[in-house]
Formats: sequence, structure tokens, C-alpha cells
Amino acid sequence: MMASFKFHNYKILDSTNNKAIEFAKKKFYDVVVIAERQTKGKGRFNRKWFSDLGGLYMTIALKVTDLEKTKYLTFAAAVSVAKAIRKTAKLNALVKWPNDVLIDDKKACGILTETISGRENYALVGIGANINQKKFPGSISDKTTSLAIETNKRYNIKKISKEIMKEFSKLYSQYKKNNYNKITAEWKKYSHTLGRKIKAKTMNRTYTGKAIGVDEDCNLILRLNNGKIQKIIEGDIFIA
Ligand code: BTN
Repeated sequence: MMASFKFHNYKILDSTNNKAIEFAKKKFYDVVVIAERQTKGKGRFNRKWFSDLGGLYMTIALKVTDLEKTKYLTFAAAVSVAKAIRKTAKLNALVKWPNDVLIDDKKACGILTETISGRENYALVGIGANINQKKFPGSISDKTTSLAIETNKRYNIKKISKEIMKEFSKLYSQYKKNNYNKITAEWKKYSHTLGRKIKAKTMNRTYTGKAIGVDEDCNLILRLNNGKIQKIIEGDIFIA
């Protein structure tokens, strides 16, 4: 059965991920938390996520069995956002490993998936998508874009969130049937990463090589310049 999601809309929150964590702790799931802006938007690696009016800030709270597989939810969310952007704004949105959506090589969306483990496990899939913003802070402005910047139009943010959830629901039903390869296949279709020469910065090291695939845990597989195969589990990647 396709899960049906209940939307909870807020004007302002510290972080939609935090609100979704509160919901999950009360055993509420299949819930979508949306805020018009956030005061403490979180990015990966404790980075700040700029969350002014005009962006889409949403978190999907899900109940999961296998915490090892939650990276597929991040992939599924990225694909859903890319598809929603393609449909709404007719732009060539692509997914970048592990958790971004790019338009014109610039970041249009980031995803932060957090988990709660215990007797029951939950995943909170947080999506930050740049929609109607026209400007970003100087430090990120040259590598960031929005639908409005790309097309000179304004979009209905709620409508885009619904479109994302329409796509996500389909992939999530595959996820629940353990059809992870279906999610990977979709991700590969829209991949900006695969086939490219990449520089991967992990906690301890930087690797340069060609991105040749993703494995069954959504890790990135690089063929290094010396021919060695290197698995990248976490980190940031750049086009080399
Ligand atoms: C990243 O690229 O580092 C991930 C950014 C994720 C941002 C979104 S905005 C909605 C949700 N709430 C948060 O605090 N973070 C995520």
C-alpha cells in the first residue's frame, strides 16, 4: 500500500528536522513537516543551512526497520526533488552524490537524513530546496542557484512540495519492498556524478578518480588514477 503523508505547515521553526524528530519521538510518522523559514537550519557536517523566506524547508518522518538502508531514502528524496524541478520549471536538474540536486552545476537542493534508533527506528529526511530566493550569502553565492534565478519566475512552494511527495511516495513503496535496486536505477538516470572525474574529500584524505558506480550501501566507487578501486563512504565531492 502506498503510504499517505500528512502535511504539517509552520511559518517558522528552528529546523524542520528537529520538529520531525519530536514527532517521531511521539511515534508519529508518515508526516511531512514544512516551514516557511528556519532559524537553525542544519546542513551536513554541522554546517548551517541558510533558511530565509523563498526556500522550501521540509522533513519527511518515516518509520524504518533497517537503519543501514536509510541512505536509499536520501537517494530517493534527491531523485524526487530532481523530478519535481524538471516538471515544474523545465530545468535539467541532476543528482550529485550523496545528497544534492544541481542545476547548471550549482546546488539547488541539499538533503540531511537523521535517524532515531531504539525499539523502533525512524528516519527524518530533511530537504532544503532553493525555489524563489534571488540572492544567497556571498560565501555560497557562486555555487548556489534557485528555480527563480534560473528561470526568472516565481513558483508555488507548496505545490512543489506536493510534487516531491508524489514522486517520493512511489520510490518509498519500492523501499518498503526492499527493491533498493529500483531506487539506485532511478538515481543513476539523473546522476551528475557517475562517469566523471571526481575529487572526494573524506574526513582524513582526498582521493581523485573517476566515479564508476555506487555499491549496495550507496557508497561511491572511484577508480583512482593508479587503477585502484576506492570506496567513498562519506564526504564531499567536486568535479576534478
Ligand atoms: C546539506 O546539503 O548539507 C543538507 C541540507 C539540508 C537542509 C534541510 S532544510 C529542511 C531540513 N531541516 C534542516 O534543518 N535541514 C534540512
